[in-house]
Amino acid sequence: MSNFAGKTVVVSGGAEGIGLSIAQAMGRQGMSVVLGDIDAAQLELARQQLEAQGIDVLACVMDVTRVEQWAEVAEQAVARFGKVHMLVNNAGVGAIGESIERSNIEDWRWVVDVNLMGIVYGTQTMIPLIKQHGEGGWLVNVASMAGMGGVPFAGAYTATKVAVVGMSESWHAELQPHNIQVSVLCPAFVKTRINLSSRNRQAEYGGENDDAADSAKGSAMAAHMQKVIDNGLAVEIVGERVVEALVANELYIFTHPNYRSVVQKRFQAIDAAFERAAASPLLAGVLNEDVVGFTD
Ligand SMILES: NC(=O)c1ccc[n+]([C@@H]2O[C@H](COP(=O)([O-])OP(=O)(O)OC[C@H]3O[C@@H](n4cnc5c(N)ncnc54)[C@H](O)[C@@H]3O)[C@@H](O)[C@H]2O)c1
Repeated sequence: MSNFAGKTVVVSGGAEGIGLSIAQAMGRQGMSVVLGDIDAAQLELARQQLEAQGIDVLACVMDVTRVEQWAEVAEQAVARFGKVHMLVNNAGVGAIGESIERSNIEDWRWVVDVNLMGIVYGTQTMIPLIKQHGEGGWLVNVASMAGMGGVPFAGAYTATKVAVVGMSESWHAELQPHNIQVSVLCPAFVKTRINLSSRNRQAEYGGENDDAADSAKGSAMAAHMQKVIDNGLAVEIVGERVVEALVANELYIFTHPNYRSVVQKRFQAIDAAFERAAASPLLAGVLNEDVVGFTD
């Protein structure tokens, strides 16, 4: 029997794409599944799909940017399954295609609220439930390869994904004593509907027809992105890859080993910058001081 069997996972943005793939993979491991998503129609299809596969599923219509809706999901999950053992913070939106001076502030607010604050609210709500039963558990945050280096014309998206990687590293150290394993998933392109994220854009952020993706529509970049996503990794692989990596207790979960050079180049550049700082006479006094605030 797997370590996951008989336990409960909550997956945000679980109605389709990467979230649904992870939910299915965890369901196949014998977990009960709670799906949260803003898209009621797609959520109902996902619920039926999981149920047809014999997976015990609870579907909750919710918006990750609303902390009170997270509380309702927690209440329903506990009422139905008793305990929560794993949270997968997957819901996310993409807005790629605008330069910094052309990007509008509503786009920034939308992307930051969903991709970053949604994870903060979800984690604050669910971690106490996982700590409560003392059996340990898992927190999986879905970032992106964009969290491993700046992607041009995607400042807001990159900002949130870099933040998700950093938050995951912080929480990894924080939650280890509670036997809660933290992982951060960093995919490159996966074939989903991420490039149509504005379909679920809430009215308070300008609604469906008023986002960066739309203003970039018809542009060469939009056409290129569509092609790249269409040629992306089959989404079914991602869920199984997450299971494989959780069993191996991995903090960073990669799905595209061919992108290794992105990280290597970034760290080489950072290391070279440290080398120059170390050679600066201005900084000679701090060279041998202790490093404070980071765990090994
Ligand atoms: N597809 C890729 O190439 C790719 C690459 C790297 C990272 N990611 C990340 O993977 C995650 C999932 O994206 P995907 O590719 O499956 O996209 P997707 O658009 O297919 O699925 C996203 C899901 O999130 C839901 N959602 C959107 N806003 C929400 C909100 N406010 N509250 C609740 N649910 C909401 C959508 O309804 C949808 O079901 C995102 O965090 C994304 O940034 C995707």
